[in-house]
Amino acid sequence: MGRKLTIAIDGPAGGGKSSVARGVAERLGYVYVDTGAIYRAVAYLAMEAGLSVEQDAEEIGALAGEMSVEFRRVDDAQHIFVDGADLEEQVRLPEVGAMSSPVSALPRVRESLLSVQRELARGAGCIVEGRDIGTVVLPDAEVKVFLTASAEERARRRLLQLREKHPDVTFEEVLANQIERDRRDSSRDVAPLRKADDAIEIVSDGIGLAEVIEQVCRIAAEEEAETSA
Ligand code: DC
Repeated sequence: MGRKLTIAIDGPAGGGKSSVARGVAERLGYVYVDTGAIYRAVAYLAMEAGLSVEQDAEEIGALAGEMSVEFRRVDDAQHIFVDGADLEEQVRLPEVGAMSSPVSALPRVRESLLSVQRELARGAGCIVEGRDIGTVVLPDAEVKVFLTASAEERARRRLLQLREKHPDVTFEEVLANQIERDRRDSSRDVAPLRKADDAIEIVSDGIGLAEVIEQVCRIAAEEEAETSA
């Protein structure tokens, strides 16, 4: 195999970034860095400490600057560890997900997490997934993918996941929630969600996961061949 690369994969919630990033990492033997989990961890620590986004922005920023983050494999899955504690289950709670969006709009938090993310992505052979990886965190990444899907398609996928635990949730609720979250993530002042000029856009409506993983691996292979030629 050729030279190992840094791959940035950005896009809105529900576009399939995590599954694709995980799949590509496995195929290429790359490290997978889930930056959304880091924002979620800050939200979780803030909730635990009884902090509010409106009143305690400084304290939340300080929390983000002080925590140590690691990704480790547990039972064949990747878990986030903060200050040595496995927080994988906690960061996936819906209330933590909801708080992570306003938390991620705090400039102090984003600033503190820049070095954390860059450190985790140090060394080649990693795929880093988030909202501003290709634009802000790793502007020099060799491969940049912007993975998206229509709001309806993303809501449909999210509904399937949610139905397991919340049988009463409706498509309209999920879609409204999706649109609101997209609006907030794209309109915040600091590092809003947007496609990097040099990113390749993949719209995954009607394309299966395996095919998207294949496409990203192909883009990476072409880049590898080009730069090692
Ligand atoms: O991808 P996710 O749902 O786990 O992300 C959680 C929140 O963090 C979401 O509101 C977007 C935000 N986020 C961000 O602002 N920048 C990133 N690089 C990753 C996530």
